[in-house]
Amino acid sequence: MANLIEYDDEKKIFHLHNKNISYLIAVEKGDTLSHLYFGKRIRKYNSNQKYPNLDRGFSGNLPGSLDRGFSRDTLPKEYSSDGEMDYHTPATIVQHEDGDQSLFLVFDHYRIQDGKPKLNGLPSTYVENKEEAQTLTITLRDKYGDLEYDLRYTIYRDRPVITRSVQIKNSGSQVHYLKKVASMQMDFVNKEFDVISLPGAHANERQINRAKVDPGIKVFSSCRGASSHQMNPFIALVDKDTDEDNGQAYGFAMVYSGNHKFEVEKDQIKQTHLVIGINDYNFCWKLKPGRTFQTPEVIMVYSDLGLNKMSRIFHNLTGERIIPARYRKQIKPILLNSWEAMTFNINEDKLKKLVNEAQDLGIEMFVVDDGWFGNRDDDNSSLGDWYVNKKKFPNGLSKFIEYVHKKGMKFGLWFEPEMISLDSTLYSLHPDYLMQVPSRKPSPCRNQYVLDFSRKDVRENIFDQIDNLLSSNKIDYIKWDMNRHISDIYSLKLSADQQGEVCHRYILGLYEFLDKLTRKYPNILFESCSGGGGRFDLGMAYYMPIDWTSDNTDAAARMKIQYGTSLVYPPSLMTAHVSDIPNGGTGRTISLSTRSAVAMSAVFGYELDLTKLKKEEIEEIRSQINFYKQIRKIIQFGVFYRLKSPFDGIQAAWMFVSDDQKKAVVMSFNFFGSAQPVVTKTLLKGLNPEFDYKEVKSGQVYGGDELMNFGLFDPIVKEDYSSKIYYLEKVN
Ligand code: GLA
Repeated sequence: MANLIEYDDEKKIFHLHNKNISYLIAVEKGDTLSHLYFGKRIRKYNSNQKYPNLDRGFSGNLPGSLDRGFSRDTLPKEYSSDGEMDYHTPATIVQHEDGDQSLFLVFDHYRIQDGKPKLNGLPSTYVENKEEAQTLTITLRDKYGDLEYDLRYTIYRDRPVITRSVQIKNSGSQVHYLKKVASMQMDFVNKEFDVISLPGAHANERQINRAKVDPGIKVFSSCRGASSHQMNPFIALVDKDTDEDNGQAYGFAMVYSGNHKFEVEKDQIKQTHLVIGINDYNFCWKLKPGRTFQTPEVIMVYSDLGLNKMSRIFHNLTGERIIPARYRKQIKPILLNSWEAMTFNINEDKLKKLVNEAQDLGIEMFVVDDGWFGNRDDDNSSLGDWYVNKKKFPNGLSKFIEYVHKKGMKFGLWFEPEMISLDSTLYSLHPDYLMQVPSRKPSPCRNQYVLDFSRKDVRENIFDQIDNLLSSNKIDYIKWDMNRHISDIYSLKLSADQQGEVCHRYILGLYEFLDKLTRKYPNILFESCSGGGGRFDLGMAYYMPIDWTSDNTDAAARMKIQYGTSLVYPPSLMTAHVSDIPNGGTGRTISLSTRSAVAMSAVFGYELDLTKLKKEEIEEIRSQINFYKQIRKIIQFGVFYRLKSPFDGIQAAWMFVSDDQKKAVVMSFNFFGSAQPVVTKTLLKGLNPEFDYKEVKSGQVYGGDELMNFGLFDPIVKEDYSSKIYYLEKVN
């Protein structure tokens, strides 16, 4: 197998390359590690072009050097620190025992290995064999101290992807306080970038935002203890005219579920400096002698054909090398969830009626959401008490599960393991499990509090409770929720100078828990949730192959949320349910067919009281379920293309194409009925131009080239939020 990484010993240049991309690093004067290039593949770098030297005022030089042309302040670098006369936002800041914060990182040695080592205690992309990737570890050391930084780069053979992370080692005898440790840095010379981010809010997640990168620093971050609804851990740097199918796009996503920070700085000479890692706000890690600290991983994707291609690279990587392999080709069941139908108001009898309806319609899994445990009748109590409420399930949960299974359906259950209610047995027994600052009163949110998941004893208590339930009940699916953000950050088990570790230790604790639970119960399907899509990130995807995209189930809002989400995450990771109208969140009334077209664009389900529907609606749902069963392989395992953006406010369209291009499903939406409609078309993508396709419902045959170039005239319908689904199959 050809090498993917080379080092030119003489010119001191590293070249990471595959058939799509190249990444170049040079060792420059003073053993400074500089960044030369990331982008489309370069067959062979001549190794003579280096960053030009120039004497610039107020940009200083190497200590002890008389060379005024070489400055660490302007040189594009791989990893910069506080204390080296580089005035950009640094990748790392460390305070030493004497209080000083200087670090001067120099190249020491490197190592190239086949494959990709696992990250200690953290989720990351993986390989299935050593030929699939190569890993370069470059060790920088503090010239005047005893810290070592291992910068790790993995390049995949067949993907335009490089992953990065950093491991810091204290090889001396004094304590160091890591105040900032980014997972990566990258500097671009004079590029006019736009930055695309995914800000949002609860019930309004991942709204696409695009802005020019101007002088100064733009920060995209979360300090909420979770990756958050408010700012997803992703950005893309794109050329000014990059669109869905043209232009360069660099995508960066963190495989992490906690506080993150993406900094994009445009400097004095129009260079773009990018730093990504754990948020340094509320962070300080005490690194004792002999210890190491591992940062989370960042995935870097390069696309030369716009955002659609960038997303496809992320989608493939997520589906093939992030979610657990056992779920990779597993068809996800169509479910009915009790939440929007009944909220906390559940009991065995009422639920059985829903189960009967669901079975009759061909639904494959029944999920009991919140309200089944402790004394939980509303959101004021019982979090932490993971035992079955006998009043609601007088015959026990097992009997009810048996009932569901006998109907031929799977059974799922909701948990919110990281939380505690004051009104709970857990709190009365262990008030100290609740995360709070001693002598201060903690802030409630949804009248609940966060458990100190950085503590082993806390995790063990919750694990044992859940384990007890799972080992005595045949549960096929778990929805793992998290309905508030962290505050009152303090752990009783950590010393005063380690309180800055709490947020990260919480996430490490969560990952350890999920690792243990998913290993012990590999046949359970896990869905991640955090008040909808508040922890929709690749860290959670490493354990859980589906994620509740948003608590907002209004079809119009969902179009934007799912479209924004698709920039990074594949539709197979998103769950989407048809709910009742008028929508509880927006008050909007949208037809059942459009609601289902939006929900069918992901992992499909229902979340409404089927017993209250009209006969025609029940029949429509029956045919939706049959149809989704026909198309779901294309939706869940096919290639996804965005066609029209709902953010333009007029129409939306996207499509799914099977790997062999023989089948495709197109969803197209028109937002407003009009007395004077504009005639529009939808141009398809990703088909084989040589194939002929039959639209299954109408029987009409079209050429693949015709569908992609001439397109399809959009139907003109006198209705708001109308939709049309096309199901295309290759004609022999
Ligand atoms: C969160 C979830 C919902 C539901 C409720 C239950 O908001 O996102 O789907 O499970 O909690 O309390």
